[in-house]
Amino acid sequence: MEMDVGVLLAVLVLVSSAASTQGDGDSFTVTVNTNGSYSIAVQGNIWLKSAPTFVRVNGQIYSTADGSLKLLQTTGTSGTDFIGKWQSTSFLYQADTCRFLASIYFYTPDPSIFSYNNPPEQFLLFKQTYLTQTNGTKAGSVDETIAGFPGFVVKEPSIPLGYLSYGGGQFGYGMKTFGQFGPKLNISSGIESGPLSIFDRVKTPNTLILSPASSFMSANLWRQNTSTGSNLYWGTMGSVTDVPANFETSTILFYSNQGINKGFVSWGQILQKWYGRDNSFVKSDFTNNYLGYWTDNGAYYYYHTEPKKDYQDTILDIVTSIKDTGIPFRYLQFDSWWYYKGAGNGVKTWESTPEVFPDGMQWLYNKTRFPISAHNRYWASDTTYAKQNGGQYSFIVEGTKALPLDQIFWDDLLSNGRKWGLVTYEQDWLQGEFGGVPSLTEDVYLAEMWLNQMGRGAAKNDLTIQYCMALCRHALHAISIPVVTQVRASTDYHPGRQQWRIGVTSLLAWAIGIAPFKDNFWTTTVQPRGLHTDRTEPYPELNALVATLSTGPVGPSDMIGKFNKTIIMKSVNSEGLILKPSRPATAIDNMIRRLAWNDFEGQDGEVWSTYSDFGESNKYGIVLAADLQGNYTMTPCMAGFQGFPKSMVFPAKDPNKVQLLTDPQPLQMSGCTMVDFCLYYVSPVVTFQGHQVLIQGELDKWVPMSPQRVVDINVDVSDINVRIAGGANEIVNFWFNTDGVSKGLTCDINDSGFASISYKSWGCTSE
Ligand SMILES: *[C@@H]1O[C@H](CO)[C@@H](O)[C@H](O)[C@H]1NC(C)=O
Ligand SMILES: *[C@@H]1O[C@H](CO)[C@@H](O)[C@H](O)[C@H]1NC(C)=O
Ligand SMILES: *[C@@H]1O[C@H](CO)[C@@H](O)[C@H](O)[C@H]1NC(C)=O
Ligand SMILES: *[C@@H]1O[C@H](CO)[C@@H](O)[C@H](O)[C@H]1NC(C)=O
Ligand SMILES: *[C@@H]1O[C@H](CO)[C@@H](O)[C@H](O)[C@H]1NC(C)=O
Ligand SMILES: *[C@@H]1O[C@H](CO)[C@@H](O)[C@H](O)[C@H]1NC(C)=O
Ligand SMILES: *[C@@H]1O[C@H](CO)[C@@H](O)[C@H](O)[C@H]1NC(C)=O
Ligand SMILES: *[C@@H]1O[C@H](CO)[C@@H](O)[C@H](O)[C@H]1NC(C)=O
Repeated sequence: MEMDVGVLLAVLVLVSSAASTQGDGDSFTVTVNTNGSYSIAVQGNIWLKSAPTFVRVNGQIYSTADGSLKLLQTTGTSGTDFIGKWQSTSFLYQADTCRFLASIYFYTPDPSIFSYNNPPEQFLLFKQTYLTQTNGTKAGSVDETIAGFPGFVVKEPSIPLGYLSYGGGQFGYGMKTFGQFGPKLNISSGIESGPLSIFDRVKTPNTLILSPASSFMSANLWRQNTSTGSNLYWGTMGSVTDVPANFETSTILFYSNQGINKGFVSWGQILQKWYGRDNSFVKSDFTNNYLGYWTDNGAYYYYHTEPKKDYQDTILDIVTSIKDTGIPFRYLQFDSWWYYKGAGNGVKTWESTPEVFPDGMQWLYNKTRFPISAHNRYWASDTTYAKQNGGQYSFIVEGTKALPLDQIFWDDLLSNGRKWGLVTYEQDWLQGEFGGVPSLTEDVYLAEMWLNQMGRGAAKNDLTIQYCMALCRHALHAISIPVVTQVRASTDYHPGRQQWRIGVTSLLAWAIGIAPFKDNFWTTTVQPRGLHTDRTEPYPELNALVATLSTGPVGPSDMIGKFNKTIIMKSVNSEGLILKPSRPATAIDNMIRRLAWNDFEGQDGEVWSTYSDFGESNKYGIVLAADLQGNYTMTPCMAGFQGFPKSMVFPAKDPNKVQLLTDPQPLQMSGCTMVDFCLYYVSPVVTFQGHQVLIQGELDKWVPMSPQRVVDINVDVSDINVRIAGGANEIVNFWFNTDGVSKGLTCDINDSGFASISYKSWGCTSE
């Protein structure tokens, strides 16, 4: 159906069909005027009003503000696609000799896309289409946009609205900001921008999430200062010089009435659906699943070897010590210390130098048989792979950096890595490469070509990729590259540096289906060393716990002889399989709102939650509170545990101290520091033969009810059976609480790797 509504309707209102849970009005409304302006209302209050639409063409700005951008036609259409039902309004504009289409799609997505769907969430898609080849688009700065649609005027809202803005390095960790939405907002603008979320103060916050929905590598959010305040614009980055005909870029404005956490998850589910993301790579990724030994920044052996030894002998010593201690490390990470550097300290040749490994990588791999996660950085202008330098492959060389252009380059590079044990390719300095090769920011397709080629090269060689020093744009683009399975979610580790606070970036990573990585950590506080003599790690347990709850890699980085096996084994089974929850632990909504408003009655400090999911009525929660000032009272709803069965909560340190967890009987937390953090477990209440039983699980692990350990739970009138998996001949201590009293039983898993626990007969049988 297509109709010309331009002259028929003065105002087209696209209204949510979802019934409001809070009042009589509709929850989410967009009003689109025939002159091209629009506004967004939530629960009947206007949250956002449009700023003028503009396009840069042949060095001029054409805007609806002064009529220089001419509206030729307004069209209304509706339809259905694999996301759901939509209605759209399109504005056809003329700017100089070029035509530009600005469309607003109002989507009611198919509820089956979401894991939370009561009522279904809705969203708008703002689409820009360059119908003609458009030249002279470049703006004053790379951080601006070459066209602005959607655009919103930032002014004091009629009701208090807060925001969370992701931005800056390490996937939005570097410049994530919070505050009151209004003229004083402080957000990353331009190349370093990321998703923006706006929310209110009601019990379960209404939440809007705005982000690019396509062309992630070339899309910006630009904060334009005006005489009266500012406008926020989404569009293509300001350095793009010309745009090919039919280039399209879009922005999503997602609405959820389920809060910030669930809103982000649903927003991400739409994007994942759109790009057909296949999560099997994240789930099966070796380095996401097994314990690894790390040598990157902050690690004991980062640019540092054993006294009077080279790296080769140091690695061999590490491997010997791993075997001696019996700690089940399963792979090694080699950081930037192993390959040839060239101009600007970029990578010249991605091969080991004879000073580092005199016998070569393959010899070392033959000797250790440890799979490798290997670091790489930006390409140097004198890279030996480039034709310009006598190599075989096409590169763009600009300044001190270079960019590979051929798919075959990545295929060859990564296939070569397979010979020395490569399993995960760690692409670091993504931000540095993007900012260092000007062509990458001048063209709308080049940057995504770079990442797509890398992804295809990895996929062809059965490798996974970790993104490090990614901007939000890189990780968002990776939604369509399923072998990108991990992303660094905070700044580099250094003993004592507080980079464990990944609860907010983990939310973004989880939403887009990529595991967040905390980086390496020391498990022993003091480790004597030349380079880091002044550094100590006061919080080894907190670091280990955070890594385990991330669902991403767990990578201790201690000196030989300084592994704390007790701490390390709390993360893994006897074969080094990480015992993790079903999703990363993320900052609870009220922590985010307290960061936005310091008068918000929320906690001052870190409170995160996560859970292990064994199906509808079998969810086991985990709550972590650390560095908390004062006391905090949390209901299950505040923890994000809506829809969990009737449950009880107990502190990790005292499994006898059980209490019901309901809205009238919330969890009281106090004295939660970084050394003495508060960790709570939540188990459904099972009524068994007149007794109240909690399956508490393996309490000597951080995650006592991990799907990696517990493969099946079966409760019926005759027994409570728990089937567990483990390493050959692993001993598992498994706990139940009966009427308030906790008791553990010991289970000896034989070679089969599986055993069944019977509560009734209080024992365990190998299979
Ligand atoms: C567009 O129309 C709306 C509704 O009539 C009006 O409020 C707004 O001022 C108009 N905007 C422009 C730029 O003319
Ligand atoms: C735009 O620029 C390209 C290359 O710079 C040129 O080939 C083309 O003719 C130009 N198109 C227009 C419409 O100016
Ligand atoms: C904006 O936020 C950043 C990151 O928190 C902070 O470093 C900076 O000082 C803030 N700027 C202003 C003007 O408040
Ligand atoms: C725009 O305003 C913000 C906040 O006042 C300020 O931090 C920023 O530097 C300004 N940007 C420009 C380009 O003037
Ligand atoms: C490594 O082992 C493979 C297979 O056994 C062998 O072909 C290769 O020559 C060895 N390489 C080195 C450098 O030792
Ligand atoms: C290992 O860590 C635990 C928990 O922090 C501590 O009690 C123990 O003393 C540590 N072991 C060693 C050998 O340092
Ligand atoms: C915080 O909780 C502790 C332990 O329950 C209690 O002793 C203390 O009085 C509480 N403090 C405040 C300020 O409520
Ligand atoms: C493991 O236990 C099962 C059941 O008790 C038994 O049938 C099997 O032979 C055992 N396997 C080994 C290698 O002991």
